[in-house]
Amino acid sequence: MAPTPYVHPAVDSTAVFKSDLFKGKVLFCTGGGSGICKAMTEAVMRHGASATIVGRNVDRLTQSAQELSKATGQECLAVQADVRHFNQLRDAVARAIERFGTIDFVICGAAGNFLAPINGLSVNGFKTVIEIDTIGTYNTIKATLQHIRASKGSYIHVSATLHYRGTPYQVHVSAAKAAVDATSAVLAVEEGPHGIRSNVIAPGPIGGTEGMDRLSPKGDAQQVVYPRLPAGRLGDVKDIANMTVFLFSDAANFVTGQVIAVDGGHEHLRGPSLPYPESVLDPNAVKHMIKPRL
Ligand SMILES: NC(=O)c1ccc[n+]([C@@H]2O[C@H](COP(=O)([O-])OP(=O)(O)OC[C@H]3O[C@@H](n4cnc5c(N)ncnc54)[C@H](OP(=O)(O)O)[C@@H]3O)[C@@H](O)[C@H]2O)c1
Repeated sequence: MAPTPYVHPAVDSTAVFKSDLFKGKVLFCTGGGSGICKAMTEAVMRHGASATIVGRNVDRLTQSAQELSKATGQECLAVQADVRHFNQLRDAVARAIERFGTIDFVICGAAGNFLAPINGLSVNGFKTVIEIDTIGTYNTIKATLQHIRASKGSYIHVSATLHYRGTPYQVHVSAAKAAVDATSAVLAVEEGPHGIRSNVIAPGPIGGTEGMDRLSPKGDAQQVVYPRLPAGRLGDVKDIANMTVFLFSDAANFVTGQVIAVDGGHEHLRGPSLPYPESVLDPNAVKHMIKPRL
């Protein structure tokens, strides 16, 4: 019988970090209405912080805010805004300040993604992802910076590992996330002397998320590709949440300008998730494996 790999489980942040770590602190999170960013928000709230979550789908956002409050006992404000429009973010920040009086932590997590080769991607599709991920990140920084200067607070940007190599079908997100990484580095250097830290979390494949659902080939390929990570399992949203708690804590006071992959070692192992070179030679051959755009 083949030996089975050892697998460390994903754990709750409260099993490791003090429960009152962020008592009295306030988080502002774009993309916090779902998936990874919702879990990041929940973890920060479980340690005592209040939060504002931002997204476009107001029904989902409101429901998520209620769930987060119920799960953590902390207040969560849902504010509808499209990160592509600075004025909407400026108004969302004003609502957060009106309610909580300060912002200590910012998560720039709003993003869009879908699979498409360069040749099949529309100019508009490329532009839209740049607008959400890159310009949305800049807009969020711009709208929150004066408050983070005042609180000597900290930024986390949610990026990816796709752009470390030439990942097929991901030119739009690769370009957008590379720019996010660069933006965070400049922010860390320019604002460090004002007491601000800025870091990037680059998630690997995280199970049960919209991103993973959208990017994984459909059918058996998912089982074949992902259990082979060095960590022996897909990522869990808790894995990203735990890095979030660490980076916002004082234990990370000397950590700034960094890009930290939380990917179970995927980066050092991975090949393309769609069959290669079939997927680039004949996109029609893999069409059935791709979830269509919304
Ligand atoms: N899942 C993974 O395995 C994985 C891997 C690497 C990186 N990531 C990154 O992790 C983050 C979360 O991904 P996820 O998989 O959890 O996906 P998700 O649930 O789809 O999260 C994306 C969030 O962004 C919001 N959003 C999208 N466009 C927006 C806009 N124009 N304005 C405001 N909010 C907007 C969405 O809310 P609305 O639709 O309501 O606006 C949604 O809440 C993303 O930055 C993604 O690139 C994920």
